[in-house]
Order: sequence, then C-alpha cells, then structure tokens
Amino acid sequence: METKIGKEEILDECAELIKQGEIVAFPTETVYGLGGNAFNESAVKKIYEAKNRPSDNPFIVHVPDIKDIEKAAYLTEEAEKIFEIFSPGPITVVLKKKKEIPYCVTAGLDTVGIRIPSHPLGRAFLEKCGCPIAAPSANLSKRVSPTTAERVYEDMKGRIPAILDGGPCEVGIESTVLSLVDEPVILRPGAVTAEMLAPYLPKVRMFKGEVKVAPSPGMKYAHYCPTVPCELFISEESAEKEYLKREAEGQNPVVLALEQTCKKLGEKGLRYMSLGKNAEEYAHNIFETMRKAEKIYGYILAEAMEGGGMEASVMNRMYKSSGGHIV
Ligand code: TXA
Ligand code: MG
Repeated sequence: METKIGKEEILDECAELIKQGEIVAFPTETVYGLGGNAFNESAVKKIYEAKNRPSDNPFIVHVPDIKDIEKAAYLTEEAEKIFEIFSPGPITVVLKKKKEIPYCVTAGLDTVGIRIPSHPLGRAFLEKCGCPIAAPSANLSKRVSPTTAERVYEDMKGRIPAILDGGPCEVGIESTVLSLVDEPVILRPGAVTAEMLAPYLPKVRMFKGEVKVAPSPGMKYAHYCPTVPCELFISEESAEKEYLKREAEGQNPVVLALEQTCKKLGEKGLRYMSLGKNAEEYAHNIFETMRKAEKIYGYILAEAMEGGGMEASVMNRMYKSSGGHIV
C-alpha cells in the first residue's frame, strides 16, 4: 500500500477515505492519531492491525464539538462542565458509552474516552468526516508516540493509505485521561493537570493502584520505548558517573536533559540533547528527541523532574520509557 502524506490539500481525500471505511493518521495538539470511523467495526480492526496493538486496550473517540459527544457517550452535567472549561484541548473524559459504539472500540468496556482536540487541521478533519473518530496514537504499539507527520511515516509507511500533516504537535505528550464514571480519577496524567482540575472537581485524585483488571488498560503495557536502553537520572553526579561507565563499555551514551543541566554536563565533556527550559518544553520535545537519539546513540540517560503538574505528567511517560530505572 502506498502511504500518501500531505497538508490541507489532502484534507478532503482523507475524510473521503474515512467514509469508505479506511484509516488515516491526523494531527492533534498532543500527538498524531490513527483514526477510523468509530461506528465501523472493520475500520477499527484495521487500526489494531496497523499498530500491532493488543485488542484489550481501548481507543479514544474524537469529536469536533461538545454537541457531538452524545453520538458516542452519555454526557453528564459534570462532564459537560469539564468539556466547557478544558475543551477543545488535551483532555479525554471517560463516560458511559452509547450502544452505537461497538465493543471493539472500547475493548469490551461499557465506557468510552471522549476527546475534542484543539489542533485546527485536526478539528477540520473531524468536522469533514462527520462521524466520531476512534484513534490511538499513530505509532506502532510500544513505540514512542509520533509528534510529526514524518515520525508517523516512519512507523506506518505501507500500512495506512494517508497521513494528514499538521506540523509538529504543540503539547507533545498524550492527553490527560479523566474518568467521570464514578468519583473523578485521573487515569493518565497530561497537560491538563490535577491542580488545574481540582477547583472544578474537588474530589479528583490520581489513580495509583496496581493494574490487574485495568481501569485504563493501556497502563499495563510497555509503552514509550526507545529502541535503545533508557534510564533516568536525578543528580548530575550520578549522571556523569553512569555516562562514563557506559562510555567505557562502548555503549555510546547521550544525555537528554533541560538546558541548564545540559550546559553543566556539556562542560564536563558529556554529549547531550537539550529538551528545553521547563517541563512544558520537555514535554513538547521529548518524543521527537528520543526518536532522534535512538538513531545515533546506544544508550539514553534522561533527566528526571520531581515536581507536580506538568513535571509529573512528563515523568509518567519517562518512567515507562526507562522501565523505572533510575541511576
Ligand atoms: O492525546 C491523546 O490522547 C492521543 C491523541 C491521538 O488523541 N491518543 C492516545 O491514544 O494517546 P492511546 O490509544 O495511545 O491512549 C489511550 C489511553 C490508553 O491508556 C487507554 O487505556 C485509555 O486511554 N482509555 C481509552 N478508553 C478508555 C476507557 N473507556 N476507560 C479507561 N481508559 C481508557
Ligand atoms: Mg499510544
């Protein structure tokens, strides 16, 4: 299969492909999605196949507007308030699903994650399709989520008919997943943080349990893995020590860190790639930088951040990338 890649000029064609039951990669402000008509079981199966994804991990359903939510889910007053405040934007709300959404979208659950992305071309695509779009991130299963159309192409070349190119994603990590089925609980942290939600949902808490019967099945899988080993560091001293050890072993290490840290470690002769000045820039850059680094280097040493808010959201991904290894 030839994989077409283009900007606005292929928008109509992409929407047409969706109407024919095909799947298309499209931009959102978080990461690129791989979408298909959420009402069409055969389209949804094509997504699982293209990604090599286990079929017990549910997809998020994307709609262009609050008024479209009720095509897919029962909208509660509480959920409507949250969507009004934080959407369009990087948040997914888990609600009771409508029967029109097949169980292959939700991996057998009676609930569905709903998201209204803010990326202009992404929203235009959703509007044109005219149906809710089931979409996971547009990477091969386990791999780092793509934040540019080129990275989607890297993983999906020959596997899907088209990639709608909306440029680099602004946020860079996936949406916050908030369940409002019972008491409000954040199943996956993201750019909409617990601190931001708390004024509207005083009872909101982070999910901290062990994932056996998974409330968010995605949590139990290996995720965000670069193709080379990745570990985290907290202090510059331990980073330097580990780096020199790996270097001596011929592993060709690199440091991924905030600008300040890069500067200090760079002065000591360590190779580095900067992730920017703060947690927001770290989030924006991390997946793309990991994909660059894994092509050049043999071992990644990434800076850990210990704060709350966006720092915690980014570290949620990094903890998975590193398998929880801290040097
Ligand atoms: O930013 C994003 O959310 C991106 C863009 C494309 O929208 N999508 C994304 O999808 O990251 P994916 O499939 O990579 O991650 C979806 C997450 C998984 O952890 C999944 O388990 C959880 O959302 N999820 C989806 N539906 C759920 C449900 N009904 N109940 C609990 N968790 C759900
Ligand atoms: Mg994903």
